[in-house]
Amino acid sequence: MGRFRDPQDPLFQAINSSIAFDYRLAPYDLEQSLAHSRMLARSGIISAEDLAAIERGLDAVRREIEEDRFTVRPDDEDVHMAIERRLTEIAGPVGGKLHTARSRNDQVATDVAMLVRAHSLGARELLRDLMGTVVRLAERHLDWPVPGYTHLQRAQPVYLSHHLLAYFWKFRRDLQRFNFCMTATDDLPLGAGALAGVNFDTSRMFVAQELGFGGIAENSLDAVSNRDFVLDYLAAAATCATHLSQLGGEIVLWSSQEFGFCEVAEAFSSGSSLMPQKKNPDAAELLRAKAPRVVGRLVALHGVLHGLPLTYNKDLQEDKEPLFDAIDTLELCLRVASAMLEGITFDRERMAAAASDEFIAATDVADLLVRRGVPFREAHTMVGGVVRAAADQGKRLSELTEEELRAIAPPLDGEFYELLDQSSWLESKVSEGGTSLARVREQLAHARHVLDEPRS
Ligand code: ARG
Repeated sequence: MGRFRDPQDPLFQAINSSIAFDYRLAPYDLEQSLAHSRMLARSGIISAEDLAAIERGLDAVRREIEEDRFTVRPDDEDVHMAIERRLTEIAGPVGGKLHTARSRNDQVATDVAMLVRAHSLGARELLRDLMGTVVRLAERHLDWPVPGYTHLQRAQPVYLSHHLLAYFWKFRRDLQRFNFCMTATDDLPLGAGALAGVNFDTSRMFVAQELGFGGIAENSLDAVSNRDFVLDYLAAAATCATHLSQLGGEIVLWSSQEFGFCEVAEAFSSGSSLMPQKKNPDAAELLRAKAPRVVGRLVALHGVLHGLPLTYNKDLQEDKEPLFDAIDTLELCLRVASAMLEGITFDRERMAAAASDEFIAATDVADLLVRRGVPFREAHTMVGGVVRAAADQGKRLSELTEEELRAIAPPLDGEFYELLDQSSWLESKVSEGGTSLARVREQLAHARHVLDEPRS
C-alpha cells in the first residue's frame, strides 16, 4: 500500500498511532488470530498448510513479545498491524492470508472485549480477597462497641464488626457489577468485518467457542461500534473505587488523634520529614483520592461515544487509555485496601469510651417512653428536653434527678437509670440487619456463605 501513498507526516503519526498503549492487547490479538485462522482453514478459506505456517509464525511472534524481543516500527500504526507485519516477515506472504474475512474494526472490538472480560474476572478475584479480609476483621472485633454516626455526629452505638461488614455488602454489589461485565462481553464481535459482514461463509460460532464467548453479536453494525462493555467495566470500577475511597476516608478520619480509633501499620504509612511525632495514613488518603480519577475515565468515554454515528469511527481508539488506566488504578487500590486492612489495629478503649457517651442512648430512652404508651413523636420531643436539660447543666443523663426527669418526661422512672447503666443499647437492636450480636452473627454467616458461592 505504501507505494501508492506519500509518507505520513510525523505529527499525523503522533495523533493517529495507538501502538504506544494498545500493545497491551497483544496476547488477546494473538489468541484471536489463532482462532480466526483455524476457522478459515475449517471453512476451506485457507489450506491446512497455510494454517500450519500461520500458527508457527504467530507462535514465533508470541515468543518475541513475551521475551521482550519484539521491535515496533515507526509505521506500525497499532498492535494489530505490528503483529501482522511481523508475522509476514517470519512466515512469508502466507502471513497476509491471516486478515482474510476480518477487518481491524471487528478485530479491535474483539480484543477489547477479551481484555475487559479478563480484567472483570481479575476484579472479582481481588474483591473476593478484600471481602475475605473484611470478614476476618469483623470476626476479630465482633463485640467491640463503637459509635455509629450520621452527619458525622455520634448517633447510636454499633459493634465494630457491624460497621466493617457494611463495606462487605458494598463490595458484594461491586462483585455483582463485574459479573454483569461478563455478560456484557459475551457476544463475539469478530466476523462483522469492517461493518457489513464479510464475503465468506465464516463460522463465527466456532471462533466464539474457541475464545470463550457465549454467542455472536447479531448485528454487524452494532458489533463494530459497540463499546458498552467498556462503559460497563468503567462504571463498575468507578463505583468500586468510590467505595474504596469511602473506606480510605474513614480510616483517615479514624486514625486522626481526634478520633484515635485505629492505626494503620507502619508499612502503609509515612512519617513527616519535619515532625517526628507524625504517622500519616498515606495509603488510605490515596484510596480516598483515586476514585475521581476512575470516575473521570468513565466520563471521558461517555464523551467519546456521545453522538457518534454508526459505525466504526477513529474516535473509538480513545476507548483504550481510559480503560487501561482505570484497570491499573482499580486493581492497585483493591490490593492496597486488602493489605492495609490486614495490618490495621483498633483501639478498643477509645472506641468504647466514645460509644458509651450517654447522649447516644437518647433513642433508647424514647423507646422506653413508647413502651409506656407515649406516641413516638411525643417521646422524641420529651427526650430532646431531657438531653437539653442535662447538657445545659453540664451533666450526664444519669446525673439528672428523678424530679428533674419527671418535670420534663413524666412517665420516666427508675428504669431510665437502669437503661443507662446496662449499656444495653447495642443488644436492643434486635431487628434483622441490626447491630445486636445475634444479628451480626447471622450476617457473618451470610457473608461467609457469599464467599463460598461458586465463582460462576
Ligand atoms: N487502532 C485502532 C483502534 O484502536 C484499530 C482499528 C482501526 N480501524 C481503522 N479502520 N482504522 O480503534
